[in-house]
Amino acid sequence: MEKFDVVVLGSINLDVMVTVNQFPKYGDTMIAKTIEILPGGKGANQAITVAKLGKKVAFLGAVGNDSAGKQMLDNFTSYGIDTQFIQIDKENGTGTFVPIVDENSENTMVGTLGANNTLSSEFVSKVFDSIESDILLLQMETSFDSVLTAMKKAKEKGMFVILDPAPAERFRPEALEYADLVTPNSQETEFITGIKVDDKVTAIEAAKKLERMGVRNSIIKMGSKGSLVYQAGEVEFIPSLKVKAQNTVGAGDTFAGALACSYSEQADIVKAVKYGNAAAGLKVSRIGGQNAIPTHDEVLQQL
Ligand code: RIB
Repeated sequence: MEKFDVVVLGSINLDVMVTVNQFPKYGDTMIAKTIEILPGGKGANQAITVAKLGKKVAFLGAVGNDSAGKQMLDNFTSYGIDTQFIQIDKENGTGTFVPIVDENSENTMVGTLGANNTLSSEFVSKVFDSIESDILLLQMETSFDSVLTAMKKAKEKGMFVILDPAPAERFRPEALEYADLVTPNSQETEFITGIKVDDKVTAIEAAKKLERMGVRNSIIKMGSKGSLVYQAGEVEFIPSLKVKAQNTVGAGDTFAGALACSYSEQADIVKAVKYGNAAAGLKVSRIGGQNAIPTHDEVLQQL
């Protein structure tokens, strides 16, 4: 059995990153400021964060048998991530997303899941039988079967399961049953609980609802308004870091990866959120994709 600090299961996408002055209106034809082809995907971004922060990561995902897939595999190798747990789908292409970033560094995106949606429970089960770790981090951009199988397997092995319930439209309440910690942003919180969160009071209300839905610990991320950490009734509010944002794409993924790294060492959610905030703050203050994710030393200097 090979031992890892963190296991990440999630999506691998080719990102066609578009920057514009302002988002196009319905029916517009617009010239972009820049268009770049970058490696992305929530799962890949999280796994690369874990690797850049100096932890040993096992990454489970799927790509198509195409040039984008090959590029993504080479990219993992360049970060020292073993690609043996990545399924190659012969029928479907590698996932592709188009994130659009405006002059305020806000983003909106659209994409296809492709191979991500075919990651099979058999493959996931087999991998879990060959690895050991204390932490599983995952989101909802691969097939729901793969998500649920990984969570069930992780619970059987006594692992701590961190669920980033993104993107909101892929969320299924059943997943909460196997999560030890859930980390929704405001939009995801409202989608899951029906509660609009914009301050500490509404965030506590939503965290209590999540507890009734099956998960004792939650981090409600309210962007510039800070985060609420809720641990089975205990509450702590953590203000956000003030940074000049350049590109917010992948900020949540950097936060999640860093959170998992810190938790794997100290099992302290509040400390892990502070570490995650510092890592995500550095990421958004830089131009770029995965290359803008900070190292452990850079995060320590920021804390
Ligand atoms: O969270 C950002 C990521 O979401 C992008 O890299 C895109 O591929 C989508 O998965």
